[in-house]
Amino acid sequence: WPVYAPYVYAINKLKKERNAAILAHNYQTPDIFHCVADIVGDSLQLAKEATMVDADIIVQCGVHFMAETSKLLNPDKTVLIPDMKAGCSLAESITGADVRLLRERYPGVPIVTYVNTSADVKAESDICCTSSNAVAVVESFGVDRVLCIPDEFLAQNVAAQTNVKILTWKGHCEVHERFTAEELLAYKEADPEIQIIAHPECPPSVVAIADYAGSTSGMINYVRDKRPPKVLLVTECSMASNIESSAPDVQFIKPCNLCPHMKRITLPKILDALLEMKEEIHVDPLTADRARQAVERMVNLNQ
Ligand code: 13P
Ligand code: SF4
Repeated sequence: WPVYAPYVYAINKLKKERNAAILAHNYQTPDIFHCVADIVGDSLQLAKEATMVDADIIVQCGVHFMAETSKLLNPDKTVLIPDMKAGCSLAESITGADVRLLRERYPGVPIVTYVNTSADVKAESDICCTSSNAVAVVESFGVDRVLCIPDEFLAQNVAAQTNVKILTWKGHCEVHERFTAEELLAYKEADPEIQIIAHPECPPSVVAIADYAGSTSGMINYVRDKRPPKVLLVTECSMASNIESSAPDVQFIKPCNLCPHMKRITLPKILDALLEMKEEIHVDPLTADRARQAVERMVNLNQ
């Protein structure tokens, strides 16, 4: 705490002076999550909150696609990301040109893109989804076949919950693809009291043995509401650290994987972003218009 304090003080002061709001994803470290963020949440919550933010500047503490989504929804605001290199293996797995080829190959099949994609990819799609609304989005078309890209595992996990046939892509989250059912079952065998809570970016074999699977906020709510005595959050490391103070009666088992992209965001970089108004997100206006429609369709569907 003493190391963080001057940064926290300076960031919160500058935030007021500049009329800035900090939107932070659930994977940000506890110092950011608890001490400087104005809004925390999963991807869907952050996208929704971005449409309601009453500030001139948004500082997105998360990865690039999240900042880009905020910019799409707030074309007239300044959107900053403290480190432009904060990427995502899913977003990098597919391009707009790939989506155009898929459209040619599967004419008439609706294209749902996970929000973890670039604006170019969103612009080529019919609607976006996140892990918390993917089944509803897929079923919203009322057709029997939908492309759900680029996360192969999310698509397979959605397919297990719907009668709609899901076509997908070979993208994976580098954090969640590393978890295995064998590794997790070993914990459960050693202590049957442990509940396994997994993110739907995990392989289906992991989700199959989980007591609950849902978005990052879904996982947080599950722990807060159900109060399992021992819980293993099968996701990025900061999740457990961020919620353990609000669930002191829950024991967190922590075989987590770090997201190196999320971890690029730090308090000193947030302070620099506010001091120097960097690094600003720009999206080509034509691409932005088309991508915005895909995001807005998703946001409106869930209101
Ligand atoms: P959520 O939408 O569940 O917050 O997931 C975002 C993400 O990047 C998970 O890896
Ligand atoms: Fe992308 Fe996975 Fe990191 Fe989320 S955890 S930002 S999906 S690489």
